[in-house]
Amino acid sequence: MSRLDLGLFIPSTSGSLIIAKGKPPQSVPTWELNKKVAQYADEAGMDFLIAQVKWRGYGGETGHWDSALEAFTLMSGLGAVTKNIKLVASVAVRTLNPAVVAKMAATAHDICGGRFVVNVVAGWNKFEYAQMGLWSDDDYYLNRYEYADEYLTILKRLWTEDHVTFKGEHFEIEDCVSNPKPAKMPEIVCAGQSDAALAFVARQSDYSFIGRLNDTPEQLGETVRKISGMAAEHGREVKSLTLLTVIAAETEEEAMAEKQRYINNRDSVAIEEWQRASGMDRNRADYKELPPEVSTFMSIPHVVGSYQQVAEHLDKLAEQGVSGACLAFPDFAADVPKFCENVMPLMTSR
Ligand SMILES: Cc1cc2nc3c(=O)[nH]c(=O)nc-3n(C[C@H](O)[C@H](O)[C@H](O)COP(=O)(O)O)c2cc1C
Repeated sequence: MSRLDLGLFIPSTSGSLIIAKGKPPQSVPTWELNKKVAQYADEAGMDFLIAQVKWRGYGGETGHWDSALEAFTLMSGLGAVTKNIKLVASVAVRTLNPAVVAKMAATAHDICGGRFVVNVVAGWNKFEYAQMGLWSDDDYYLNRYEYADEYLTILKRLWTEDHVTFKGEHFEIEDCVSNPKPAKMPEIVCAGQSDAALAFVARQSDYSFIGRLNDTPEQLGETVRKISGMAAEHGREVKSLTLLTVIAAETEEEAMAEKQRYINNRDSVAIEEWQRASGMDRNRADYKELPPEVSTFMSIPHVVGSYQQVAEHLDKLAEQGVSGACLAFPDFAADVPKFCENVMPLMTSR
């Protein structure tokens, strides 16, 4: 069985991936919390950290995602206080010119000694970008991965070429210069799921995030092979990662009870706003309210069980060719040490 890389979807936004009241899962996304969690994961031998980019949250009593640290700034700071772990910072391509990001990434790459990785976010939430005047019409949404493709072409050329001139549908760059160059090309991650996103991934990305709510490990394996095949057509290799919220305890009963507590304490106002923002507008004829056991966890796959069950689940992902799992927890400060001490030693894929 090949090794499963482990990473954290670090708590850079209020509430992480559970929309529920109470403390935890509500964490205030401070530098101190993220530093503590990042340093613990680094020392424990985890492989990567991802910080998402968020410009607008969902309100409610929890203020879910209302507060979000900026990913490049945060990861640059973490680069200076960690040793080995890779740092994946998300960029919303609509918000920053690629020449600006080329230099930001080169700087961050230098700070952390070549551990910096860029997660390309094409953007799906109109409200985040419309508030900045960056979503003039819905054409952007339809063409977002073409836009991202030109963006990445420019970014990679600026990282490797002295003078870049580029004329595309979305960008015109004239004799553009970006120094210093990163010591080696930063790796690229993309978490898009649509067909356009997968075509983009095959051409431009090194890692793809895969996995829908109820996918079995076998279904994930099929997706891994599909994406590898698409990348191979371009003579490239793309590895697959998956995002997973973990609720683990000594016994399955304890873990199930914890999950139920979050469902019982869900923040219905924030959930409704999240669903609306995700395009599931209540006024639309096809609107379907998601069941609480889905919406409380933002439709993100989650594994709930004893330490042994969680370890076995992760091993099954590795058996299917998934390269890594990015984990989120209800209470990162307490749960990351628990996971590293109790689950990691039980995994055969580590
Ligand atoms: C691990 C992971 C990280 C993501 N990070 C962000 C992010 O930082 N900001 C964001 O707006 N969307 C983020 N997304 C959403 C994706 O970028 C993507 O838009 C979404 O999966 C829908 O796919 P599509 O754009 O192909 O429709 C993330 C998704 C995953 C699974």
